[in-house]
Amino acid sequence: MLTTSSDPIALDQQRVLQVYRRSPVVFESGRGCSLFTRDGQRYLDLISGVGVAALGHAHPALARAIADQASTLLHTSNLFHHPLQAELAARLAELSGLSRAFFCNSGAEAVETCLKFARRYWHAHGEPGRTGFVALDHSFHGRTMGAVSVTWDVHYREQFGPLIPGVTFVPAGEAAAVRAAITKSTAAVIVEPIQGEGGVRPLTPLTADAIADACRATGALLIADEVQCGLGRTGRAFYSPVLGLQPDLMALGKALGGGVPIGAALFSEKVASAAKAGDHGSTYGGNLLACRAALVFLDELIEGGLMQHVAQVGAHLESGLRAIATRQPGVKDLRGAGLMWGIELDRPAASVVQAALDRHLLINRTSDTVVRLLPPYVIGEPEIDEALPLLEAAIATALEAPRT
Ligand SMILES: Cc1ncc(COP(=O)(O)O)c(C=O)c1O
Repeated sequence: MLTTSSDPIALDQQRVLQVYRRSPVVFESGRGCSLFTRDGQRYLDLISGVGVAALGHAHPALARAIADQASTLLHTSNLFHHPLQAELAARLAELSGLSRAFFCNSGAEAVETCLKFARRYWHAHGEPGRTGFVALDHSFHGRTMGAVSVTWDVHYREQFGPLIPGVTFVPAGEAAAVRAAITKSTAAVIVEPIQGEGGVRPLTPLTADAIADACRATGALLIADEVQCGLGRTGRAFYSPVLGLQPDLMALGKALGGGVPIGAALFSEKVASAAKAGDHGSTYGGNLLACRAALVFLDELIEGGLMQHVAQVGAHLESGLRAIATRQPGVKDLRGAGLMWGIELDRPAASVVQAALDRHLLINRTSDTVVRLLPPYVIGEPEIDEALPLLEAAIATALEAPRT
C-alpha cells in the first residue's frame, strides 16, 4: 500500500473539497465482505461502496483480470476499436433486450446520456420543442447538471440553478397525477424502478401501469434508471420487467465494473437510430480496463450463478430483517428486494449508522429516516447471521436514546 500521509483524515480536511460527511475511519484493504483498517481492525461491509463492490473486495478473478489488462493495454480512446467494448455491449443487449450501448464512467453520466438522447430522438423526428421530462418525487439520478435537474430533493438542486428547464416532478404514489403529467410535450419519463437514495422505495404496480399507459398514449420515451437496483442487485437482472415496464433507454453504473468506474446507457433500436457520429462521446468511456472488469462481473453474475445466489441470500436477509422489524417498535417499514433494503425508522437514522459503526458494521442512511443495506452480492448466510444481531443492537441502542 503506497501512502505517504500518516494522518489522511487531517490531510483530507486541508486539501480535498469538503463535500462529503465521511465517517472518521480509514480503510486500507478488503476481502470479500470485510474491510480492514491500517491497524488491522475488521469491519463487516453491508453497503459495498454504495452498491458498487458487488463481487466483494479483492475478488480473485476480478483482481487477476485487472492486473492482466493493465499489463496488456489499458486505454486507446474511442478513436480506435478494441475487442472488449463491443463484446460488453452485446452481453448487455442480451441481458436487457435493449440493442445498443454507450459507455461512460458513472451513473450520472449514463443518466445524462439518456436525457440527451431522449431529446435527440425528438429532434430527429421533427419535434425539437418536445423537451420536457417527467420525474417522480424522492427520485435521485446523479449530480451532473442534467441528472440533478431530474433529482427531486431540492437540497441537491437549489444552489446550482438555473438547471435544465421543463422538468415536472409528480408524487410517485399518485398514479392519476403521474398519468396526467405525461403529455405530448414530454420527451421522456425517468424512473428508478426501486428508488435508492430516496429511501429504497419500489415503484407501485399502479404507478408503473400508469406510466406505461401514458407513454403508450403520448409517445413519451421511458428512461429506466437501474443504476442502483439493476444488474442483479434484486436477484433479477433488472427491476423494470418486474413492474411490466419496457424502457426505451436504461442507465447503468455502480455494480457494472465491480469497483472499476464504468457507466452505460442502453438504447432501443428506435432511439439509437436517431444518433449520428459526433453526437456524443467520452474520452475514457468503455476503455479496455473498464470493459474487462465489467465482463468479469457479468461472467460471475450469469455463468457463475451469482444472480441466483443473490435471490437466495436475499430471502434469508429479508426474513431476518422482518423479524427485527417485529421486535423493534421504532421500525416503521421495511422495503426492498434481494440485497437492497431500506429500514424506515420513526426518527432520523444517523444514530443507528453510528451505533452500527461502533460495532464494526457498515451500513448507511438515506432519506434521513431510512437505514439502507446494499451488501456485496457474494455475501453468505453466515455473514448475514453475523450482521443481523449487530444491526438489531445498533437499532435498539439508538432508539433507546432520547430523541434529539
Ligand atoms: C439511481 C441512481 N442513479 C444515478 C446515480 C448516480 O451515479 P454516480 O454517483 O455513479 O454518478 C445514483 C447514485 O447513487 C443512483 O442511485
